Amino acid sequence: MLEQMQHGGIVVVDFGSQYTQLVVRRLRELDIAASLCDPQDCAAALTTLQPRGIVLSGGPESVTDPGAPTIPACVWHSGLPVLAICYGMQAMAQHFGGVVVRAREREFGGAELVVHSRCTLLDGIEDRLDEAGRPVLDIWMSHSDHVLSAPQGFVAVASTATCSVAVFAQEEKRYYGIQFHPEVSHTPCGLRILERFARVICACKPTWTTQRIAEQLIVQIQEQAGHGRVLLALSGGVDSSVAAALIHRAIGERLVCLFVDTGLLRCGDVTFVEQTLARHLGMPVRTVHAAEAFFGALAGLSDPETKRKALGACFIAVFEAHARELEPIDFLAQGTIYPDVIESARAKGKAHVIKSHHNVGGLPEVMALPLLEPLRELFKDEVRAIGLELGLPRDLIMRHPFPGPGLAVRVLGEVQPHAVATLREADAIFLEELTMAGFMEKTSQAFAVYLPVNSVAVMGDARHYGPVIALRAVVTNDFMTATSAALPHEFLERCARRIVNEVKDISRVVYDITSKPPATIEWE
Ligand code: XMP
Repeated sequence: MLEQMQHGGIVVVDFGSQYTQLVVRRLRELDIAASLCDPQDCAAALTTLQPRGIVLSGGPESVTDPGAPTIPACVWHSGLPVLAICYGMQAMAQHFGGVVVRAREREFGGAELVVHSRCTLLDGIEDRLDEAGRPVLDIWMSHSDHVLSAPQGFVAVASTATCSVAVFAQEEKRYYGIQFHPEVSHTPCGLRILERFARVICACKPTWTTQRIAEQLIVQIQEQAGHGRVLLALSGGVDSSVAAALIHRAIGERLVCLFVDTGLLRCGDVTFVEQTLARHLGMPVRTVHAAEAFFGALAGLSDPETKRKALGACFIAVFEAHARELEPIDFLAQGTIYPDVIESARAKGKAHVIKSHHNVGGLPEVMALPLLEPLRELFKDEVRAIGLELGLPRDLIMRHPFPGPGLAVRVLGEVQPHAVATLREADAIFLEELTMAGFMEKTSQAFAVYLPVNSVAVMGDARHYGPVIALRAVVTNDFMTATSAALPHEFLERCARRIVNEVKDISRVVYDITSKPPATIEWE
């Protein structure tokens, strides 16, 4: 959808590093249009997106292995400046006849980069000077192989204690190789390096701004939808709400939203959709109260995967039945975002199924309608910025993600309505405390989980034997890996005190300190 806005930006060729998405995000933070492509799609991307520069990402492979991915020839034929990061640098070195060696050990963590020769990429960028007056940069490395000698025609620009050629440059062709990762926050000068590459070396213009993206999306939705009617499944989460607000701005009443209250939503979700979206923003929203159908579908089920599948099927059945009443419908809209698109492309045929995700992504096949996915090229932070631009309230925009199966995967085992009600109350207290303490925006996702095991408590001199609530709060960039949030002990004690006092039955509160991996963020 945003193809035209991508013109004149940077194409990032993905060799599979876990940080590749971060390169794109950092460039976009600099208001530079950037998008990701696989090596085999590079030629097509260069033709369609007309970029001004190319970044070659890092990757898990070793260029010394037979069959390791090589840099597509179109990169060299394009005549564009190239910034090659980590694996990209090694592949570039190998292509031009440099020497790449496999290190005995993986180097992982911080290092000091000393710059010996001037180069346009690093000009004027330094954290400090060493005794010899040479620029020194604090950088972050994650590699096994490294370049031992730069190819002919390239200048070795900088080194670290363990890596004699940590940066090389071929100024005439505007080719640069860097062994470290400028995209991670542990490389403090990293953003300036990316900015120098994009703005100075490639002469990219700062065109990727929230206001322009929103304007462009509105025009394109109008073009794509024509005079058609669009149906959108609202979940109450950030993505579907922003997609709805955008489409509503574009085509007004021809957007119809269907909101399925599964009975498995958080406290306030239903009110939010009905009051903020429907009343405040004036969107036509049809709410279907279907708790009975969902609890019916879950009855007797305790295996997490079986529960997820039953919920997915129930959602489709309810959605379809009610969508029919809203016909004629010409398009089905979804709040799919860029990481969903990238992950599903990467996961195709490779990844093991850890959990079957249930969301409205299951609908198109059933509904057989053309899709309208205005956010599919945007990251979450960009979606949030657009939401704010469109006037959606900040507390909605900063909301943590909420899984499609809702509280059903947070009541472990068989789901009883009373357990969901209890969990909802405990969850609301935890979220309220997080909000009051200012921790909501410092954590990426936080919620309560209902454990159907009884523990003993003494309440008002009487013995009480009741279920346990676990609190989970994580910090993560991409939800693929996560660490438990280091919330202050007094804060957690306050949450526990309130939950056992205010929520009937709960005997005990525990805090989950497991990282992902191995534990997933959700408990089921
Ligand atoms: P896990 O538990 O796999 O979760 O570490 C990673 C992120 O995905 C969310 N999640 C889901 N989102 N449908 C969704 O839309 C689902 O079925 C689903 N399951 C997990 C989870 O909340 C976390 O943000």
